[in-house]
Amino acid sequence: MKIVVVKDYAQMSIKGAELIAETVKSNPEAVLGLATGSTPEGLYSELIRMHKEEGLDFSKITTVNLDEYYGLSGDHPQSYRYFMNEKLFNHVNIDKNNTYVPNGGAEDIQEECKNYDKNIEKLGGIDLQLLGIGGNGHIAFNEPEEELNFGTHLTDLTKDTIEANSRFFDSIDEVPKKAVTMGIGSIMKAKKIVLLASGKGKAEAIKELTSGKITTDSPATILQVHHDVTLFVDEDAASLINISK
Ligand code: PGA
Repeated sequence: MKIVVVKDYAQMSIKGAELIAETVKSNPEAVLGLATGSTPEGLYSELIRMHKEEGLDFSKITTVNLDEYYGLSGDHPQSYRYFMNEKLFNHVNIDKNNTYVPNGGAEDIQEECKNYDKNIEKLGGIDLQLLGIGGNGHIAFNEPEEELNFGTHLTDLTKDTIEANSRFFDSIDEVPKKAVTMGIGSIMKAKKIVLLASGKGKAEAIKELTSGKITTDSPATILQVHHDVTLFVDEDAASLINISK
């Protein structure tokens, strides 16, 4: 695992965007695995800048998102489909038909989950997966549990996650209690993984992730097994790790 400590959120966003841009340039038909949340917002702004000012071309790119709230359709302002359209897709030359986000409003959610993984296989797998990390060590919505799921599945959100995400809703009661999420296997099959973390709230999770131990209590720790992971962490998120590692 390559750990790059950067000064702050802005630097993290630029470094992450540079890595994605490299992939897009070297493989204009790449499949990018994308994430939502506060963490990647700056990176998406930087990709939009690169598209507008430097001609970064997304016309043949395909994207696959990690997760979606259960019960929210894509036109709900708090849905992750809506987020992706607003924060990235509407501002670059990507074909929206080539952007996939799980459908949280699907009638048959089990079928939706099965088809989501099948589609990733059909696309030839994910070339580069972008990840954030929860303060509780979750990746996508793979929450700390006794057992982790391999494939895309419907999951209960933990109290921590519901609380953390309530900042985007008018009240905590409006936060969905379940989500559709790619599983640990779906994520680990990506050829390359980039994880971003910023702020003191992520320091404990980053410490676990770099501890040399793997535990389902901190699902991100499984990433230590992957052969091509880069972490861009800012000084606050890195404050509990030994940087010389
Ligand atoms: P955040 O969420 O980017 O909003 O901090 C990250 C995550 O929960 O994976």
